[in-house]
Amino acid sequence: MVTSPMQVGVIGHPIGQSLSPLLHTRWIKAFDLDAVYTAIDGKDPETFRHIVKDCLAKGWKGLNVTIPFKADALAMADHVTSRAKAIGAVNLLIFRGGKIYGDNTDAAGFQDALTASEWSMTLPSARVLGAGGAAPAILTALKDMGFTDISLANRTLERAEDVAHRIGGVTPLAWEDRDQRLEAIGMVVNTTSLGMVGQPPLDFSLSGLPENSAVIDIITTPLQTMLLQTAEERAHFTMNGLPMLVYQAIPSFEAWFGLKPDNGEEAVAFLTREKTASP
Ligand code: ATR
Repeated sequence: MVTSPMQVGVIGHPIGQSLSPLLHTRWIKAFDLDAVYTAIDGKDPETFRHIVKDCLAKGWKGLNVTIPFKADALAMADHVTSRAKAIGAVNLLIFRGGKIYGDNTDAAGFQDALTASEWSMTLPSARVLGAGGAAPAILTALKDMGFTDISLANRTLERAEDVAHRIGGVTPLAWEDRDQRLEAIGMVVNTTSLGMVGQPPLDFSLSGLPENSAVIDIITTPLQTMLLQTAEERAHFTMNGLPMLVYQAIPSFEAWFGLKPDNGEEAVAFLTREKTASP
């Protein structure tokens, strides 16, 4: 079935704050495509599945999937890539020939964001904070990037142990020890919700971190968390959540339309301007 305009979108809950429509619509315009990218509130898993099936039946090209439905998307796809299975989450659905294909572009997005930046590896040890929904993709990316010593600190240690075991080659760490023994750490990544608007700040001392190490916070609201502000003051390499958002979106767009937005940094600058204008 061919629908005109072509339909794609993002589904999650809540979805109001998603920057994906802004980003994809900009690329749709840049490539002069007859396509529409819509944000959809999935409400609950049952509604989510109903909407996905409905979009498939209506000839949509696919959907991005965000919190909290990435595991539901994995479960309902007919075919899932090995990287999505390993991460345990699907953030990209492609509809083709009446079938649902699931993939995960979050790990590649994190890695590509760093590759496009001025960062280069100093020490092959990383400290990840938080074992929630975003952690498996970050840990997978760090392993792919060549980090050989990765520790994972989480308030609920059991959750860190579960994720560490599933991803492999990751050492769980008690939350009290999150900022201990930083002297050989080359990168710190916050994947917790601490520091997000409406959440308490992340209590993390950078004092033991080598000065040429990187500090990354995958939060996008605000763009500058206290963690990043402190890291900038100490002249660490820093990155907020926007580059990862952009670089996970590029392969989604490419999978649906066969066209690759090639200027990720321009898209990051665009979203930064938009977020700064209306945070
Ligand atoms: P999401 O899927 O959006 O990542 P999540 O799975 O609930 O949400 O993950 C939130 C992360 O922030 C978890 O690592 C959580 O720790 P727990 O696993 O112990 O819940 C962490 N987090 C949230 N509030 C926290 C707090 N006040 N102190 C420490 N960690 C917190």
